[in-house]
Amino acid sequence: MQSTWIKGQIFSDTITNSILAIKESSIITASNNFRNSRVLIIGLGQLGLPIAKYVKERGFDVYGYDIERKAIERAEKIASIKRADSFSDFDIYIICVSTHKPNDIFTPQIDGLLYIVEEISRKAKNGAIVSIESTIPRGTSKKVFEMLNHRLHVVHVPHRWYALEEMEHGVNQLRVIGGVHDCCLRVALQFYTGDGNNNSGSEININGNNNSSNNNDNEIRNLGIPLHPVSDIEIAEITKIAENAHRYLQIAFAEDLYLYCKTNNLSFSELREAINTKWNVNILEPRDGIGGHCLPKDTRMFLQSSKSIKSKILTAALEVDQDYRRHRQSRVEPEILCNDMVK
Ligand SMILES: NC(=O)c1ccc[n+]([C@@H]2O[C@H](COP(=O)([O-])OP(=O)(O)OC[C@H]3O[C@@H](n4cnc5c(N)ncnc54)[C@H](O)[C@@H]3O)[C@@H](O)[C@H]2O)c1
Repeated sequence: MQSTWIKGQIFSDTITNSILAIKESSIITASNNFRNSRVLIIGLGQLGLPIAKYVKERGFDVYGYDIERKAIERAEKIASIKRADSFSDFDIYIICVSTHKPNDIFTPQIDGLLYIVEEISRKAKNGAIVSIESTIPRGTSKKVFEMLNHRLHVVHVPHRWYALEEMEHGVNQLRVIGGVHDCCLRVALQFYTGDGNNNSGSEININGNNNSSNNNDNEIRNLGIPLHPVSDIEIAEITKIAENAHRYLQIAFAEDLYLYCKTNNLSFSELREAINTKWNVNILEPRDGIGGHCLPKDTRMFLQSSKSIKSKILTAALEVDQDYRRHRQSRVEPEILCNDMVK
């Protein structure tokens, strides 16, 4: 029934030959119901490994690839993920590679991701799905679609995975999805949720039982992940980097307030506790400054994503974080000096 609907769209649309090719191949994939689909997870790090494990648990034939031999060995050992010898002959490519500079986790860089896409472009069959789950700058998905010569479906399904709460905020949680074209979105929705209808703005989870795995060969296979589809893939890209920029802002405000208290000789912890008694306020703890390989990088991605107007508030937040770090260092250094003197 799904395929018939997609077919109807093809003949009513005014589209280029290349788009027609990808839509025709989407019919093949959709009618397949992903029963014998081969999935390649690219990047088997903190995010990619749990994804590979989850996709395998849902009954798919899962392969993995990483530039680091150790990452592949770990995936083989921990989750029995098969090592991919080539990028040929897969139905779904899930990209989870890092998107920061190799020697600077705070600076966005997608060279590695684009290198992967070149490889996929050379080896992949028409109509396969490329799902980018890594965090990417605005415009990346459309660029990827161009690099794939419009032959493959491209979607972006940014991740909200959180290492400290993997049960509640792991691979299976509500996520946003966007497709370069409607057909990309439809086929990917079928893979992720079992429903190929693009109800932008409403959540979809047809077979989204968190713990079930669909191993029966007669069953339709999907990931059972609830999704919130959006009509423009750039909305999906910006959703991820803006939500992390928002978190960055919240921590930066806590740092700002902390510095305010230091300058004015007030107790930050007492002030924070008092403010947080109000029902709509939650001042965070500033701790060591805003770190990790997500918040600072993603906030910079967001800042770089606008062609003209830059977010003044985020630019200021980056400065506040630097001031806060300097303050912490100035507190630590005399202690280190002291220790040296004792020795
Ligand atoms: N870890 C999280 O909590 C989290 C949450 C949401 C989004 N993300 C995003 O997911 C992406 C991956 O994050 P991560 O935490 O898994 O990073 P990670 O550093 O733990 O893992 C990335 C993996 O990609 C591999 N890799 C890098 N370049 C490659 C290439 N060209 N080809 C093949 N493999 C390559 C690395 O060897 C590494 O194993 C990033 O864009 C990150 O912002 C991460």
